[in-house]
Amino acid sequence: MTSIACSQADPFAPDFLANPYPAYAALRALGPVFKLERYDVWAMAGYAEVEAALKDWKTFISGEGVGLNGMNPALPKPLTLQIDPPDHDKGRRVLGRTLSPGIARRLRETFQREAEKKVSELIDRGTFDAVTDLAEAYPMKVFPDAIGIRPDGRDKLLAWSTFVFDSFGPENDQLAASRKEGLAAQGWIMECCARDALRPDGLGMMIYQAADEGEISEHEATHLVRPFLTAGIDTTVNGIGNTLLALAAHPDEYRKLHHRPELARNTFEEGLRYDSPVQTFFRTTSRDVETAGGVIPAHRKVLLFMASANRDPARWDNPDRFEVERAATGDVGFGAGIHACVGQMIARLEGELIFGELARRVKTIELTAEPRRRLNNSLRGLESMPVRVTAA
Ligand code: HEM
Repeated sequence: MTSIACSQADPFAPDFLANPYPAYAALRALGPVFKLERYDVWAMAGYAEVEAALKDWKTFISGEGVGLNGMNPALPKPLTLQIDPPDHDKGRRVLGRTLSPGIARRLRETFQREAEKKVSELIDRGTFDAVTDLAEAYPMKVFPDAIGIRPDGRDKLLAWSTFVFDSFGPENDQLAASRKEGLAAQGWIMECCARDALRPDGLGMMIYQAADEGEISEHEATHLVRPFLTAGIDTTVNGIGNTLLALAAHPDEYRKLHHRPELARNTFEEGLRYDSPVQTFFRTTSRDVETAGGVIPAHRKVLLFMASANRDPARWDNPDRFEVERAATGDVGFGAGIHACVGQMIARLEGELIFGELARRVKTIELTAEPRRRLNNSLRGLESMPVRVTAA
């Protein structure tokens, strides 16, 4: 029998989180499956293995939690993400209808108008922080508006989701640092999910319509609005921020986008592949699993390094190069299989419109100081990125 390779790496340590890509290459070299000794968990970092595990929901289950420590205490009674079929199907159906391609088409005009406003304002300023003034500001305006939540207090959205994504990792300093602010935001988040707090014409109220029609209970509706706020903001903020940094760091690639703004949607997809906002999620084995690298016993946690899969040279040519013309689809930036991101049409819409508008209106983007990373146990993103832009 093959014995499983072991690694002493700590994928939740600050130095690992700050620059995970060399470590991912070393982990992929260990073989298809390996053990992370420090946490007594199994792991996969290659594209073929990660994608197959994401799609094999019967073997690699989500119902025991997609974090290290079983169910995420920040998310009581989930109806999505940390739940398996058949219970998963109902919430997924309701969310899928609310975040469908048809709804994305309906939101396009408003999202485009806001992208135009935002880019005009930033061109007038010339220098700004591309994280707070753009990567955060745009999604935190358009998506909560679309859900129909109140404008005041939106700064709490990031504190909340930062905490939730940190809590998928171990009880480390990272999690301790985000817990206080995250828990302080929880009350506001839950208030925003209540029927009375939602605008009648927003996406949030569409979930309550499913309750009115008897498809889900009123209580379930409240808990299905919450993933909008937990999973839909920080992920998109980091996706836009990481892609902006890649463009600022690769002026030749930005030039291509500037000359061909129709590459905007693909540029965002490539950004999600190249520097994935969601780096990892766990699964739990439902049975003993025979793999080419050895047996993973039943009821064990398995860490799926999705961001590493997106840089696997066995799947991608020159994976460490950011190329706006690359055929990036097939990346696991939005996951794969039955839990694949239900909000991806909305996220892609935001990416396409903001990068399309930048491409048309901005000739150059350059960093004016070193960008600062914001570390998180599951997410990869930025705290700050000072830039200067020139108008086209
Ligand atoms: C699932 C990433 C935006 C809601 C996922 C998964 C990933 C992901 C990797 C798979 C989780 C798993 O397999 O365990 C992203 C990224 C985004 C983004 C990178 C932005 C660039 C959004 C938005 C929403 C959203 C805008 C809107 C509400 C969800 C939900 C799930 C999910 C509810 C769970 C689906 C299920 O269990 O069936 N996302 N997401 N996400 N995402 Fe997103």
